[in-house]
Amino acid sequence: MRPDAVRSALDVELAAARARRGGDQPRVLDVGGGSGVFAVPMAQAGCAVTVVEPNPNALATLHRRATDAGVADRIVAVQADSDVLATVVPDADADVVLAHGLLEVVDDPKATVAALVGAVRPGGVVSVVVANRYSAVLHRALAGKLAEARRVLVDPAGRTEDEALLRRFDVDALTALLVDAGLTVEVLQGAGALADLVPGSVLEASQEALAELELVAATTPALRAIASRLHAVARRPA
Ligand SMILES: C[S@@+](CC[C@H](N)C(=O)[O-])C[C@H]1O[C@@H](n2cnc3c(N)ncnc32)[C@H](O)[C@@H]1O
Repeated sequence: MRPDAVRSALDVELAAARARRGGDQPRVLDVGGGSGVFAVPMAQAGCAVTVVEPNPNALATLHRRATDAGVADRIVAVQADSDVLATVVPDADADVVLAHGLLEVVDDPKATVAALVGAVRPGGVVSVVVANRYSAVLHRALAGKLAEARRVLVDPAGRTEDEALLRRFDVDALTALLVDAGLTVEVLQGAGALADLVPGSVLEASQEALAELELVAATTPALRAIASRLHAVARRPA
């Protein structure tokens, strides 16, 4: 897997968790883990992963992927909604809790973040990836969808009425959500700032150079502000 900004930040946390556990498997909880886009590589990296996911089709794909990758024994899948997280996983147990692509779709993001915080051990981290409102504006404008771009820009939730997702975030809104939950935001970076803008021919021909460019763009504030996704790593106080 080509290193990207999200994975690089997570690898730092997993290495620290492994050292803290004296070389034992870090424990990862992936809430809204879907078909295992993150869970399977984390298991391949030697983590014990629990996926909490309500969609049975996604769980079936996760099972298939985990089996194909030879890591089915390192992944526990729980069919459940984040609303009941505290009843299906132990309190304060995970070294790293992932919520990637989740906060855009839950009914109450504050309650969800509180549940994520309850599941991470003191000193551990919550990793959040969310859709960025300003990227959605930019991409619509570039596609000539100007009315939609304006709507996403002025709408309090950063969306149009006919979208499935309930909200998008920006750097300030994401930071406030995490800080209000008692977390310390240690990383706030962008993903897909430039890779989602360049033509397909460049994507194909220059993968390595683009990946290196993305790593720098991720933490460059002006480019982070327009990245497709925002990634935060936020620590629960020890
Ligand atoms: C955009 S996908 C992200 C999947 C995965 N985390 C990833 O990054 O590839 C969002 C996932 O959240 C799940 N989901 C939606 N509402 C949820 C909820 N209330 N609690 C837990 N998961 C939920 C969906 O079924 C879906 O699999």
